[in-house]
Order: sequence, then structure tokens, then C-alpha cells
Amino acid sequence: MEILRLENIHKVYGKGNLQMEALKGVNLVVNEGELIAIIGVSGSGKSTLLNIIGTLDKASTGKYILEGKETEKYSEKEMAKLRNKTFGFVVQHFALIKGFSVYDNVEIPLAYSKGNKKKYEERVKTMLTKLGIRDKIDSKPNQLSGGQCQRVAIARALVNDAKILLADEPTGALDKQTGQEVLDIFKKLNEEGKTVIIVTHDEKIANQCNRVIRMEDGKIVEDKSLIEVVQ
Ligand SMILES: Nc1ncnc2c1ncn2[C@@H]1O[C@H](COP(=O)(O)OP(=O)(O)OP(=O)(O)O)[C@@H](O)[C@H]1O
Ligand SMILES: [Mg+2]
Repeated sequence: MEILRLENIHKVYGKGNLQMEALKGVNLVVNEGELIAIIGVSGSGKSTLLNIIGTLDKASTGKYILEGKETEKYSEKEMAKLRNKTFGFVVQHFALIKGFSVYDNVEIPLAYSKGNKKKYEERVKTMLTKLGIRDKIDSKPNQLSGGQCQRVAIARALVNDAKILLADEPTGALDKQTGQEVLDIFKKLNEEGKTVIIVTHDEKIANQCNRVIRMEDGKIVEDKSLIEVVQ
């Protein structure tokens, strides 16, 4: 089932002489339950594409159809709600709030939802248990390892039960083994039904995904499925 579709997306940054076209006609259909890697050299437009998919940024031209509806047709308010409900974001340097405990960091997205405090607490604790960091609930980010910080960030991305996880270089700041552990978490979440899109420089990470999209100079130059077809 299709979950999102990009049609001839262009993204231009800046004005006049300083204009820079970061995306040059991107077409992409993502189905529910896919595990996708976006790969390409620095500056090829990977983050720009991911931010447009996550509605953090808007395309300059082209069509973006999210869950069957053109994003242009959502109001700002509807869009914010949809973004919070649909997407979970994970970035390279975790983006945790320093002064906040692990609990408080994971609870952040819930602050924008309606519901009761007790339910939220249960939800946060369930997520921390799932990610194997329940015992770190009162720790501050500076008391955690990089891998643990990334688990907190993933717990935060999941706490609203987002359908689509968007990760920009989630293993980029981690050593090989810890990076693999984080990838294994994404794989497991995908097996449980989440749609996962991971931007990475690392071919080894990409090759463990089900589909690899290669970008070059603002364009998709390769889109290949790695799922073996069993006849
Ligand atoms: N806010 C911005 N203003 C102007 N130009 C930008 C902006 N963001 C990105 N760009 C430019 O757009 C192009 C694509 O950038 P993008 O961040 O999408 O690349 P990337 O593939 O994610 O690179 P990296 O692997 O280094 O993260 C680059 O040339 C970059 O300089
Ligand atoms: Mg980037």
C-alpha cells in the first residue's frame, strides 16, 4: 500500500545569483512497511529529500502526496498535527536536550498531543524498556554512551507511534558495532510494521535494507530492490 509519493520534486535554495538547486526532479513512491536506504555523496541532496518527505521543509515545485492527499491541501495546523502523528525523526547527533533526563527527552513529542499524564508515563516507560534503556530513565544525556543516546532518540521518535521513521545518518556518530546495533533496532521496528527510511554514507548499512536509493547531484540515479523474490 502506497504511503507517500513525490512527483517531479525540485528544491531551490537561496535567491538570485546564489541560487542552488538541491533537488532536480525527484520521483519516488514509498509503500507501507518498506525499509529504505538513501545513499550518495555529501551534497547530493539526501537530507533535503528526507526533510521534504518529513514535511520539515517544502519543495519549490512538484507534488507531494502523503497518505493519499496532496500536502499543499493541508493547512499549517493540519500539517503540524499530521507531522507529529506520522513521522519520527532520528538524526546523527541525537538532538537530545542536555538539561533534561532521559524520561523528559522521550516525553517531548507527547507534550503536543492530548492525553493524560499517567498514560504518557506508561508509554515512555514501555518505549525505554523496548529499547533496553529503562534503567537510564533518570540519567542525563551526558551520562550516556553514544549508542545509548541514539536509543533515547529512537524511543523519542517512536513515542507517538509514528508510522514512518526518518533517520539522517543515525549511525554516523557511532563506532561500527554500536552502529550495527542501532541498525538492528531499525530492522526490528521495520519487521514490526514501521516504514523506515535511513540516509547513510555507509554501503554496508545500505546493503542491509530492502531497497537502496542512490542520489547524485540532486537526482535519484539508482533505485534497487534487495528483496529476493521467492517463486
Ligand atoms: N539551507 C540551505 N541553504 C542553501 N543551500 C543549502 C541548504 N541546505 C542544503 N543546501 C545545499 O543543497 C545541496 C544538498 O544538500 P543536502 O544537505 O541535502 O546534502 P546531503 O546529501 O544531505 O549531504 P551530506 O551527506 O553532507 O549531509 C548542497 O549543495 C547544500 O550546500
Ligand atoms: Mg545530509
